[in-house]
Amino acid sequence: MGKPKKTLWGGRFSTSLTTETIAFTHSIEADTRLIGYDIWGSQTHAIMLARQGIISDADLREILQWLQKAETDFQNGDFTLDPNKEDVHMNVESYLIENAGREFGGKLHTARSRNDQVLVDAHLYIRDEILNVQRGLSELCEAFLHIAKVHANTVMPGYTHTQHAQPISLGFWATAYVSMFLRDQKRLQSAYKLANTNPLGACALAGTTFPIDRHLTTKLLGFDAPHEHALDVISSRDFIAETLFALSLVMANLSRISEEIVYWTTYEFGIAVLDDAYSFGSSIMPQKKNPDIAELTRGRTGRVYGALLDLLTNLKGLPMGYNRDFQEDKPPLWEAFDIVKACLGLLPELLKTTDFKTERMAELANANFATATELANYLVKEHQISFRECHEIVGGLVGELGQGEKTFADWELTQRLLKQREIDIPIEQLKQILDAELAIQNNQSLGGTSPAEVHRMVDGFAEQLNEIASHIDAYQSEIDDAHQETLRIVDEVLGGDSDNIVRRGIQGINY
Ligand code: ARG
Repeated sequence: MGKPKKTLWGGRFSTSLTTETIAFTHSIEADTRLIGYDIWGSQTHAIMLARQGIISDADLREILQWLQKAETDFQNGDFTLDPNKEDVHMNVESYLIENAGREFGGKLHTARSRNDQVLVDAHLYIRDEILNVQRGLSELCEAFLHIAKVHANTVMPGYTHTQHAQPISLGFWATAYVSMFLRDQKRLQSAYKLANTNPLGACALAGTTFPIDRHLTTKLLGFDAPHEHALDVISSRDFIAETLFALSLVMANLSRISEEIVYWTTYEFGIAVLDDAYSFGSSIMPQKKNPDIAELTRGRTGRVYGALLDLLTNLKGLPMGYNRDFQEDKPPLWEAFDIVKACLGLLPELLKTTDFKTERMAELANANFATATELANYLVKEHQISFRECHEIVGGLVGELGQGEKTFADWELTQRLLKQREIDIPIEQLKQILDAELAIQNNQSLGGTSPAEVHRMVDGFAEQLNEIASHIDAYQSEIDDAHQETLRIVDEVLGGDSDNIVRRGIQGINY
C-alpha cells in the first residue's frame, strides 16, 4: 500500500503541504455550514451507486452508517472539521475512510468529484436561505400593509427632490414599499429556480463512464431537474451571482426605507418616533435618541454590494472548468445572506412599533404650497384654461405669496391675488381646493393616493403575498419531502437485516 498519505489525493506527491500552504488554501470556516448538505448529497450519491450496481449493498450499508454517524458526531462536537483536510468534502470522506476502512469508505467518491459535490452543497444551501429571506421580506410587507390599512386617510407630504411635492397618505407611502418589495420577492423566486437544478453526476467536468443515474439523485435532493451539461455546470456560478444581485437590490430597498426612518425621526421632520426598544442613546449627550438600526442597515448595504462585485470580478477571467478561484464564492454569499436576514429580522417589528406623528404630517402637508397642483387642476376644470397657463398663474401666485412670507392660508390675500389674475373664487371654496385631505380623497386615478385606491392595492398586494407564501410552503415541502425520503431509505437500508431487504429498499424508489 506504500506509506500513508497526508491527503486523500496525495498519491503522486512525495512531500506533504507546508503549514502555511494549508492555512492559505483551506476553506474550513466557510464550509462548516455546509456539512449537513454535504452529507445529504453523499447519501443520495451512495444510494444511486448501489442501485446502479456500481457499489455493493454491503458497501452502501457501511457508507450510510458512517455518514449518519458523521452527522451526529458533528452535531455533538465529536467530529470537527480539520483544516489539514482542506475542505468539508475531504473531511467527511476521511471520516468515512478512517471509520469504515478504505475498502468501504474509499468507494463513496466513485463517479463523483469535489467539483460537482461543492456545487450540490451550494445549491442546497442557497435554496434554504432564499426561502428564509423571502419569509423575512413577507413579514416586512405585512408590517407595511398594517400601516397602510390604519393610515389610508392620514395625510402627509409626498416628496420629490426631498421637497414638498403633493399630499399623499401615509398608507399610500407604505404600499409603495410593498409594491417594491414584491418585485424583490419575484427576483428571489427566479434565483431559486435557477439554483434548483442538480449538478451531481457532472463529476470533474466530463461526466463519467460509470452507469450513473442523475435522475435518481435529482429526485432524492428535491431538485427540479439535472443541470445537464457537465462542463457548463462545473464552470457555473451565475446562480450565485443572480442570488447576490437579488440580495443587493433587497439591501438597496432596505437602505432606502432606513434613510427615511433616519430623517423622519429628526427633530426637524418630527413625523416619526421609534419605540425605545429600537433606539439608542449617547454616552455623553443625555437627550439623544438615535435610529442606529436604520443606520446600520444603510451602512451594511455596501457589504452586500461588495459581495456581488467580489463574485462578478472572480468570474470574469475564468476559463471553462473548475478553477480554485470558485472556492471564494462562498464567504461573500454567506455574508450577504447573514446581513439581509439580520436586517429583515428587525425592520418589520421596528416599523410596527413606530409612532407616526399624524398631526405633524397633516400640518406639513397643508403647508409650503403642497396643494398648488390642485389649484392648477381646478382652474383647468372650471375655467377652461390650458394646464400650462394655469401652472403659470398658480406659479405666479405662489411666488408672490412666498416673497411676502405668506401661504395659501392667508386666504384673503390669496383670493385678492387670484382676482388680480381675473379668477374669482370664494374663500370657502379655496379652502376646499387647497385642503390636503380632500386632495388625497380625490386622487382616484388607478394607482393614485386616494384611500379607495390604497385599500384596493392593499387587497391586491395581500393576495400576492398569499401566493408567495404558498410558493414558499410548496418549495419547503419539496425540500423536506426529498430529505425525508432520503432519510427513509437510509433507515431502511440500515435497518434491513439482510442484503435482500436493502436491495428491495433501493429498488423500490419511485421517480
Ligand atoms: N473547497 C473547494 C471549493 O470550495 C472544493 C471544490 C473542488 N476542489 C478542487 N480542488 N477540485 O471550491
